[in-house]
Amino acid sequence: ERKCHLSGLWRNEQDSLMEISAVRDDGDFQGKYLTRVTLASVCARVSPLKGAQQQPGEGGWPTFAFTVRWDKFSNATTAFAGQCFVDTGGKETLTTMWLLREAVGSLEEDWKATRVGRNVFTRKRTPKG
Ligand code: BTN
Repeated sequence: ERKCHLSGLWRNEQDSLMEISAVRDDGDFQGKYLTRVTLASVCARVSPLKGAQQQPGEGGWPTFAFTVRWDKFSNATTAFAGQCFVDTGGKETLTTMWLLREAVGSLEEDWKATRVGRNVFTRKRTPKG
């Protein structure tokens, strides 16, 4: 069973890109997220992500969670939670569920402010490896 490493460049089925920088000893990590889709169909900007993974260095297939602040173009926030898997060929897959919270103007609109969904990420290979 190969270990799964979160750091690197990933792409999901919506063609969004995510780069996770080195995971710290305590499991904390940071990165950047470029979404291909937006609620208001505005142009996305690269957005910062922050997260934590479970049991760094122990379990080979860690669970993790991270948040993305879209504040360069939107007042929404997304929280992702998932797990990293490796198949027998060594291919890594991140399966996640997310909650996307948009800002609404009143408590009466709270009921419609949160979307839920699933994203699957695979490693994006760069030409030079
Ligand atoms: C916004 O449009 O207000 C913020 C961008 C939200 C992008 C969402 S987050 C969940 C889903 N996965 C993606 O890669 N993009 C969308």
